[in-house]
Amino acid sequence: MINKIRNFCIIAHIDHGKSTLADRFLEVTGTVEKRKMKEQLLDQMDLERERGITIKLQPVRMEYRDCILNLIDTPGHVDFTYEVSRSLAAVEGALLLVDVTQGIQAQTLANYHLALDQGLKIMPVLNKVDLPTANLAETEEELVKLLGCAREDILKVSAKTGLGVESLLEFIINKVPAPATEQRKVLQALIFDSVYNDYKGVVAYVRLKSGQVKKGDKIHLIGTGKDSEVLEVGYFKPHFLKSDILYSGEIGYIVTGLKNLSYCRVGDTITSTQTENHDYQDLRLPGYSEVRPMVFAGFYCKEGVELEDLREGLEKIKLTDASLFFEPEMSAALGPGFRCGFLGLLHLEIIQERLRRENKLELVVTSPSVAYKIRSTKKNFIASGGHKFKIDKEGFYIIRSPQELPNENEIEEIQEPWVKADIIAPASYIGNIMNLVNIKRGLYINTDYLSQERVILHYEMPLNSILTDFYDKLKSVSSGYASLNYELSGYRQCLVERMDILVAGDLVESLATIIYKDSAYQAGRKVVDALAEVLPRQMFEVKIQAVLGFQKNNKQSGGKVVASSRIAPFRKDVTGYLYGGDVTRKMKLLEKQKKGKKKMKDRGRVEIPPEAYLSVLKK
Ligand code: GTP
Repeated sequence: MINKIRNFCIIAHIDHGKSTLADRFLEVTGTVEKRKMKEQLLDQMDLERERGITIKLQPVRMEYRDCILNLIDTPGHVDFTYEVSRSLAAVEGALLLVDVTQGIQAQTLANYHLALDQGLKIMPVLNKVDLPTANLAETEEELVKLLGCAREDILKVSAKTGLGVESLLEFIINKVPAPATEQRKVLQALIFDSVYNDYKGVVAYVRLKSGQVKKGDKIHLIGTGKDSEVLEVGYFKPHFLKSDILYSGEIGYIVTGLKNLSYCRVGDTITSTQTENHDYQDLRLPGYSEVRPMVFAGFYCKEGVELEDLREGLEKIKLTDASLFFEPEMSAALGPGFRCGFLGLLHLEIIQERLRRENKLELVVTSPSVAYKIRSTKKNFIASGGHKFKIDKEGFYIIRSPQELPNENEIEEIQEPWVKADIIAPASYIGNIMNLVNIKRGLYINTDYLSQERVILHYEMPLNSILTDFYDKLKSVSSGYASLNYELSGYRQCLVERMDILVAGDLVESLATIIYKDSAYQAGRKVVDALAEVLPRQMFEVKIQAVLGFQKNNKQSGGKVVASSRIAPFRKDVTGYLYGGDVTRKMKLLEKQKKGKKKMKDRGRVEIPPEAYLSVLKK
């Protein structure tokens, strides 16, 4: 039986047609009746269908000829690379799908390397051959060069019209190796995804590497150390279809009986509970690493939104998305809220959108920031969420918001996250891209040629540079042709400090940002100018200042103003109702107004509208 199983996935750059090809597979194999087919069937979330992107991977089991084909559709966006790498660990083969009008792109390359590392059988496939703009010869050449394959090995399909799809299925059956026969009898199931289902609780999506599992079995999750009892097992058709038992080599699901998704982590191994005091570690399948959030932002309630509703909303999403991180945070200006961690900016946007749609929550989201590593002379710091920082072996702890940055004189060293970035673009844009990367503090490594016309530029850059407007700028300097992929490469020392903002002399805590020291003036100018545009006019003049070295506990010390701007007051005509007459009367009234304004100014607090935060902080 095991030799009739083919486990494979489709890897590609975003929009190259994975989901559409998966739809054709479902149709051709009769897994889903044609009348029930809707476009991109495996993209189950509304949001996914609307945007046409895959966020969650979705496995499906198909029967074709006398074989069982297990397909895992994977997300293409860089934020979700971890999910791709887990699905790759669950299969033996990968279709490397390339849009023939676009050629190899940055994520094609990144995913190809992931598949190569897993030792998968990689099958190059050109998609969208129905399009008149198809650039067959050139894309073939790129693939031949990259994979070292022959032109004849490259299949050509149109996922849209179905052309070539049946031969592709035949090809998969012939080329993808069947799962290896098991070495041992004990259950080893790799969790490549896990979800919380309202009816079933925590469901693990698994690939059995050895052994078998059925309802009633006692299981142990090696990474999290949890024990439980299996409530149900089954296959993806693509909905859950109950079965009696899952065998080695198969892909299916286990209803774990666990209540909390965080006990069932992607990459962990499920085995059977051993009676004796067993050391489970030698049963652990390789490749488990925890997903770490890369980007942090504060989520606060707009007027009319209750904090408890926000907490509930976040908790609900966390049930289905274990990679979301959040903890309570307090801001003087915005009140209580949450510091949330995301895999990247797209992930942030998706969570914000889900809160809006699924929970009707309108939020203020502060400027996204990376996490910095700090070594400080002052110990026992308390984070803005109220917990104590954990200090690692080298004496560093991690801060996630500007408020947590200690004062200058207490800092020994600060490090920021760096990434390895690959940019693929036509060679004619190299100059533009080099300039852009330079401005963004990137370091050039080297260039590879995909073909005569297209190159891969390798860089190292601070993650911070990529988070701001890098991607948009890259697209604009390359007329839309460049694509980007990056992965975290480590932390490096940086010279940064907190920049505070004073409005009418008051510190506005949540407008603080962490900036590079050598571009403090530019950063300050940008913020004060933007604020001057969005803050409402007052009866008195409002000064906006960007300040470095502002001592939080001692308002008098002031710090150094690097940029300032002002909003002129309304000028109310207090003398308008006087007809001619005594000029001293007019002077008196004006004098009175001046005094009043001074008084107002002395007491004057400027209300910062929530919109101001976003428009200023969105760099
Ligand atoms: P992500 O899920 O975002 O990673 O994208 P994807 O790779 O799944 O791409 P998807 O299947 O959503 O296809 C992207 C777009 O290309 C859609 O508008 C499809 O209709 C279109 N498309 C896919 N395959 C073909 C094809 O063979 N020919 C043509 N003309 N269009 C195609």
